Amino acid sequence: MSTKTLILGLETSCDDTAAAVVQNGRTVLSSVVSSQDNLHHRFGGVVPEIASRRHLEVITVVIEEALDEAGVGFDDLDGLAVAYGPGLVGSLLVGVSLAKALAFTLDLPIIGVNHLEGHLYANFLTGAAVSFPVLSLVVSGGHTSLIYMEGHGQIEVLGKTRDDAAGEVFDKIARALGLGFPGGPIMEKLARRGDAAAFTFPRALMLEEKNLDFSFSGVKTAVLNCIQREKEKGRRIAPPDIAAAFQEAVVDVLTAKSLRAVKEKKVRQFLLAGGVAANGELRRRLRQDLLAEGVELIYPPVEYCTDNGAMIGAAGYYYLLQGRLAGWDLNAVPNLALDLS
Ligand code: KG4
Ligand code: ZN
Repeated sequence: MSTKTLILGLETSCDDTAAAVVQNGRTVLSSVVSSQDNLHHRFGGVVPEIASRRHLEVITVVIEEALDEAGVGFDDLDGLAVAYGPGLVGSLLVGVSLAKALAFTLDLPIIGVNHLEGHLYANFLTGAAVSFPVLSLVVSGGHTSLIYMEGHGQIEVLGKTRDDAAGEVFDKIARALGLGFPGGPIMEKLARRGDAAAFTFPRALMLEEKNLDFSFSGVKTAVLNCIQREKEKGRRIAPPDIAAAFQEAVVDVLTAKSLRAVKEKKVRQFLLAGGVAANGELRRRLRQDLLAEGVELIYPPVEYCTDNGAMIGAAGYYYLLQGRLAGWDLNAVPNLALDLS
């Protein structure tokens, strides 16, 4: 392997078609994301059939753009990394099939990357020196997981959501308020001018000792009932107040559980990852509370929090170093558990 190892990272697990060229797992030479938000916006969520069809239409163009932007050709690549799960099976299949075809044609190693592990590796693109062991909170539209990582490939899931993911609830409440999709960024913006004390929403499992799982279906139901009640009473609903109170409830729980895990595992670094890691209030609260424990918070820039190919390329590099290569039987796995230990 040359000293410059270039990985093409492909990501099609949900509704973003993404490709990136990453050098040595740390430097992004290009990152192209074709978002389908405008296609799913009016449905208030991702429609799987529309998502997979769109991936098929744009993926080759997205890859060409990524290579062009990086100023490299297929011959310069050292490996192909692709997210193979968890995610929507029809969407994943597009990336996996294309990666296999490319790897076969170009005689390159193929690396199947766990999508959640990919999110975590977005933190390696920040320039920060990550030193193991670390804790990570991967919080996205599909997952909310507290992960302990002792080294590359040495991962233990300490807790996860028992029902809805945090991002999913942001999306569902935004839909109920008629705000569009994805709900997270819209709700965050609204919350800035809302009064978080206007409502009190539940914080499930927050006070349960020794429990690192999450549950967000209770807060979702409470907010949806509150919206309904206000409507029935003919009262004007103030979306900023609802957004602020809801966001505070979610951030309280995420922060409390993260702190509990930090105390248990005594790590010095904490990696925040996933689409919800773009949330400014979550970053602020976590940074403040972790700092008080002497723990450094690392998080990716917003464009590497939500789905992208660069995080898959970064993870792929470390998989390659460890010889964790996939075979031609690599397949899309919709419900893959993260436990890789
Ligand atoms: O990681 P991601 O792009 O896709 C999944 O793997 O699910 O995460 C998307 C999720 C969506 O639910 C979206 O509403 C949420 O991340 N999100 C946010 C913010 N930006 C994106 N949630 C809260 N605040 C944000 N600023
Ligand atoms: Zn994701």
